[in-house]
Amino acid sequence: MKIAIPKERYPGEQRVAVTPSVVSQLIDLGFNVSIETNAGISASFDDMAYQSAGAVITDDIKLLFAGADIILKVRAPELETDNDSDEISLMEPGTTLICFIWPIQNPALLQRLADQKVNTLAMDTIPRISRAQKMDALSSMANIAGYRAVIEAANIFGKFFTGQITAAGRIAPAKVLVIGAGVAGLSAIGTAKSLGAVVRGFDTRLEVKEQILSLNAEFLELDFAEDASGEGGYAKTMSKAFIDAEMALFTEQAKEVDIIITTALIPGKAAPILITAAMVKSMKAGSVIVDLAAEQGGNCELTKAHAISVEHGVSIIGYCDLPSRLAPQSSQLYAANIAHLLTELTPKKDGQIALNMEDEVIRCATVVHDGEIVWQLPAAAPVKVAAKEEVAKMVAPPSVDVTQSTSNKSLKNIVLLLIMGGLLWGVGVFAPTAFMNHLTVFVLACFIGYMVIWNVSHSLHTPLMSITNAISSIIILGALLQVSSSSNTVMWLSGIAVLITTINIVAGFAVTHRMLKMFNK
Ligand code: NAI
Repeated sequence: MKIAIPKERYPGEQRVAVTPSVVSQLIDLGFNVSIETNAGISASFDDMAYQSAGAVITDDIKLLFAGADIILKVRAPELETDNDSDEISLMEPGTTLICFIWPIQNPALLQRLADQKVNTLAMDTIPRISRAQKMDALSSMANIAGYRAVIEAANIFGKFFTGQITAAGRIAPAKVLVIGAGVAGLSAIGTAKSLGAVVRGFDTRLEVKEQILSLNAEFLELDFAEDASGEGGYAKTMSKAFIDAEMALFTEQAKEVDIIITTALIPGKAAPILITAAMVKSMKAGSVIVDLAAEQGGNCELTKAHAISVEHGVSIIGYCDLPSRLAPQSSQLYAANIAHLLTELTPKKDGQIALNMEDEVIRCATVVHDGEIVWQLPAAAPVKVAAKEEVAKMVAPPSVDVTQSTSNKSLKNIVLLLIMGGLLWGVGVFAPTAFMNHLTVFVLACFIGYMVIWNVSHSLHTPLMSITNAISSIIILGALLQVSSSSNTVMWLSGIAVLITTINIVAGFAVTHRMLKMFNK
């Protein structure tokens, strides 16, 4: 079968559906791959790289689509009136198109594809279940969008994200509020945290609390009982009373934080307005809002989709192409998702795809089949949706099977203790008493040192070192005892020792105090 990859035609789109490394994987699956000239150039993949991977380069889209069995794209084809640039009219009946489609928003597009008899698989309707994670392009792109949202905010925000103590004075860390802790929100929280900001997260689903805390961010909670879990593992629309309580919280937060990143959305619904014009006005001048839901109307009342605007001194970013702004990375992840999907579709690795509608992933992804629109709203075609944590694992630290690892660990500890006990018993029987006394002190010192260091958070290890440096000046006691010695040499040496250790003690405590101040927020 022939796979064709056209250059993305949507203005400003920089991604490409397939990278050179994925071309090799597709050839291994038995396909022939053709790609349009310069299709990957905006994502830093040139024609030479595709050619070396085994693709045929074609500069005419009509030739590219002629005889193509599968067409791989990122964006949905545009509904063009001009026949020459209309991608759909160039697709032959029976071709399989794989790309983002957004069926809820694009019924006319679905109808055109059905009329043209183009079998269509939508990357955005692949369910967010554990087995389909490797094909979940929606999550791959949301992860990148969350990261890029923080980078865009940092680019405009005129201050450091991290707190610093400089010779000129103390710089407070930036305060970031992330509303909606789905994939994009968690990614934004992780990124802002790694840049050193103080990060707060809010979501209507309480189950994300642990994920936010695991990223060392603060979880803002409302004193309001309402279950947010809705159909298909997504959040449901909240009651007016809940939204009011939530907005009261944001009214307070807006006065305090420097950056707000909003990602709140319920699939298929308009984005809820959570940040009003009055809240924007109450923010400090120079603050930044990044509204990821801009394309669905925006979570901020003043957002202008596709643009940056400045209102009351606050920059509001409404970009709808955040993954495209990181084109090499997003193309790489999207291509990997596509490769996994095609691997599922080609079980025999013979270059022939089989649409198995019994498979829930393929069933959900297929929106047009044999000239019929077969797409159904998720509620009408229920699938076993994994908990959102499955998706969040991509950005949150990986978790382990706690019960199993704990029992393995205790078994190991018992074996280790038995070996150590046997060794000590052997030493105790044969070694001299003095050696055993020294060994006991040594083992106790190791144990106390270990407990002190490993029970202190890693971020506090530098102040810990300076305080232990100060404490090591305990040798001042020896110098003090000797300073009144009758020998002049001993007296002078002790005096110098007292002076140096005093400097060490005072400086050690002073440095520790300054460092710890950095952690006081
Ligand atoms: P998601 O469905 O995983 O997360 C949305 C989160 O918002 C959920 O956790 C939900 O519980 C929460 N939420 C819903 N209503 C809320 C409310 N009233 N208050 C607080 N939280 C609420 O979605 P994902 O994949 O993380 O995407 C988030 C947004 O980012 C979507 O709007 C998506 O369209 C957008 N996006 C934007 C891009 C861009 O370039 N601007 C690119 C990719 C995604």
